[in-house]
Amino acid sequence: MCGIVAYIGKKRAFPIIINGLKRLEYRGYDSAGVAVLNGEMNVFKKKGKVNDLLEFTKGVKIDGTLAMGHTRWATHGAPNDLNSHPHLSGNNRLAIIHNGIIENYGPLKDALKKLGHTFTSQTDTEVLVHLIEEIQKQDGLSLEDAVRVSLTKVEGAYAIVVMDQLDPNKLVAARKASPLVLGIGDDELFLASDATPIVEHTNRVVYINDGEVVILKRNAEYQIVDIDNNIQTPFIQELDLKIDAIEKGDFDSFMMKEIHEQPKSIRDCMRGRINAAEGWIKIGGISELYKDRDDIGRIIIAACGTSWHAGLIGEYLFEELARIPVEVEYASELRYRNPIITPKDVVIGLSQSGETADTLAALNLAKDKGAFLYGIINSVGSSIARLTNAGSYIHAGQEIGVASTKAFTGQVTTLSLMAIELGYKRGTIPKSYYLQLLKELEQIPSKIEKILESTEKIKYIAAEIKDATNALYLGRGYNFPIALEGALKLKEISYIHAEGYPAAEMKHGPIALIDENMPVIVIATNQSAYDKIVSNIQEVKARKGTVIAIVVEGDTEIKQLADHTIEIPNTDEPLTPLLSVIPLQLLSYYIAEFRGCNVDQPRNLAKSVTVE
Ligand code: M6R
Repeated sequence: MCGIVAYIGKKRAFPIIINGLKRLEYRGYDSAGVAVLNGEMNVFKKKGKVNDLLEFTKGVKIDGTLAMGHTRWATHGAPNDLNSHPHLSGNNRLAIIHNGIIENYGPLKDALKKLGHTFTSQTDTEVLVHLIEEIQKQDGLSLEDAVRVSLTKVEGAYAIVVMDQLDPNKLVAARKASPLVLGIGDDELFLASDATPIVEHTNRVVYINDGEVVILKRNAEYQIVDIDNNIQTPFIQELDLKIDAIEKGDFDSFMMKEIHEQPKSIRDCMRGRINAAEGWIKIGGISELYKDRDDIGRIIIAACGTSWHAGLIGEYLFEELARIPVEVEYASELRYRNPIITPKDVVIGLSQSGETADTLAALNLAKDKGAFLYGIINSVGSSIARLTNAGSYIHAGQEIGVASTKAFTGQVTTLSLMAIELGYKRGTIPKSYYLQLLKELEQIPSKIEKILESTEKIKYIAAEIKDATNALYLGRGYNFPIALEGALKLKEISYIHAEGYPAAEMKHGPIALIDENMPVIVIATNQSAYDKIVSNIQEVKARKGTVIAIVVEGDTEIKQLADHTIEIPNTDEPLTPLLSVIPLQLLSYYIAEFRGCNVDQPRNLAKSVTVE
């Protein structure tokens, strides 16, 4: 999971590549590098962020109108200068950038060593460029043919771009299971892992398909072939992405911008899909769920990380409102066991990026077993979106902060719409409750606006607990997944160890951890089981834990017990997660900020995990 960007045209390429790398930095920030062809091959690469690379190249005149760049999330080999991309062939003639993993790099490396190749890095990528070199040399092939033939010998995932010093008017790229977008300008072409580096230059793009090789030439000439060299017809699309959607605007960070965008992103998600006054929900693909089957026997939700937490809320929603049995699976586990999935099952893939390798593989497995695949995705045109039989985009807009916020609420909104609609269709909720939920759902964005208007208290609490080394998040029912999500947000951006638990599970173990140094964040907005959560708070207080409770406006009982309370507006219980998660996003954010952490680019992480 790295970012790749390339340019061929008439402009000075270096600033275009650097700007593109900054846009892609959310995909990985262990190192950054560029290769520029200007008569000779010039490679600059450095451990660290794109700014470190800029500092490294300060004062160096870097001309040339053909270039490529890479921002790395390390898989094979430590994050250091040597392992940074681009990598060169043994004869220094070819340069490559790569996003993905070459799984059979070991045997390939051994074979190449026997032919006299020596390697300077520990990466799988360097092996691939030496393989291309060897095939080019042995068979006297053009760059594109050498790349194509080499890829028939490779197992794994890749999006690559290769340049050849002796062929200075060409770039060759290819993709398998890692994203790659071609941007078509008037007399220039771009390649990138996603459209963000392209949008400021052109809005005409082609999403490259798995197994395709693209040859880019001067004057915006390009050709796409498959691995057997059959010419493919490109599908040119107009990008629906505006430049301000990928900039911070008035905010200090993308994460804070994205937290504040949630009223809008949820409205966008619901636009044209719900009308409470007229009493309807229209959500794409619902009718297709019933195609070829009388009823939905079971829903399996496959996802990772925050998306998995949204999936858990989906389980509560579908089971309670539509009475459909649901299983929520970590995609990484589902793909490697021998699950019972039949053509009667609907498998929902939940993913912000639509590129998460484990989720993609789990869905492929489900497809092989004949299940109906439904995607709930943010990234338009992504691999999962293209794999599924039907689905709904969440329309959250580009999410750049590594910690997912608005994509989570978009996923939960979409799942809520689906569950409410299925419940009504199946007759498992009465019309009156259906209409009430519709009305409530429409009010969620303005209720979030209300939470976002008064963040001072959350900031104050963050300052109080910022030095904690551990934290416990507790919730029941719909708020249990929110406890998990709150804990994940805290862990990933502030590096404080945190655990989420169903509140009642606390007494089965975690209670041993509670003392005066342990902040316990209790999501206590439940209408059902209110007394139970009050008892859980009592148990924490009895052991001197500091309780921070998220409560519904006007709550008096918990206010008397907890050390701090944060109020959120009331709503129907199934919709509570859309509100209760907001203060937890803010709490983690402020804690991380007080601790001096980089909230947008937390250590060791990257936005989209396209490797196993
Ligand atoms: O793109 P996806 O939704 O498939 O990504 C899944 C996880 O990698 C992602 O949610 C991750 O857990 C986030 N960093 C959480 O904030």
